[in-house]
Amino acid sequence: MSFFNEAYLSVPPWDIGRPQPVFAKLAVSENLGDEIIDVGCGTGEHAMLFASSGYRVLGVDSAPLAIEKARIKASQRGSKAEFVVADALRLAELHRKFDVAIDSGLFHVFSDRERLAYVGSLRDVLRPQGRYYMLCFSDKEPDWGGPRRVFKWEILASFSEGWLVDYVRPAKFESAHHGRGGEAWFSKVTRT
Ligand SMILES: C[S@@+](CC[C@H](N)C(=O)[O-])C[C@H]1O[C@@H](n2cnc3c(N)ncnc32)[C@H](O)[C@@H]1O
Repeated sequence: MSFFNEAYLSVPPWDIGRPQPVFAKLAVSENLGDEIIDVGCGTGEHAMLFASSGYRVLGVDSAPLAIEKARIKASQRGSKAEFVVADALRLAELHRKFDVAIDSGLFHVFSDRERLAYVGSLRDVLRPQGRYYMLCFSDKEPDWGGPRRVFKWEILASFSEGWLVDYVRPAKFESAHHGRGGEAWFSKVTRT
């Protein structure tokens, strides 16, 4: 069983049962078009948040257990968010296009090579002028293990061609490991 699928046998530290504050704010502060993909959606809190704001939302995750839990939550809450098992590195296989991609905690799990493939994969599913909103741990977060810490320059470099980086802002990433949230970056990037 993969690391992530096994993590969902219990409640992993990132699965806090509510959306990250930056995404909760985003859902009420910007017009995000019609269709949103939540990449690495876990048990679906963000997908259900945006669905409740009226967007058509697809949550994708490579961990079948996460998708199973997300579907159960969506049915219990009457959410219209949809969930499928899919690889973030091969999103073209969905044969769908989206106005916005959101990513809470996925970008920072990838190796350099996977990161490159991921950026290409995001490009495949975003419409021109589509936006990517991403929350990841920053280099300011102490090393207690866990996923990679990301420097601002790495985000700028990853999206240097065919994208416009609108902002990379300091933010908080809440988890069971953190009282007041871990140090993070919240980025908005537009596909040109
Ligand atoms: C840190 S968790 C965040 C989950 C969720 N976004 C949240 O905020 O609770 C990262 C998620 O990415 C998923 N993941 C890891 N590699 C993936 C891949 N190649 N394709 C799709 N999902 C992946 C994991 O299964 C896990 O659910």
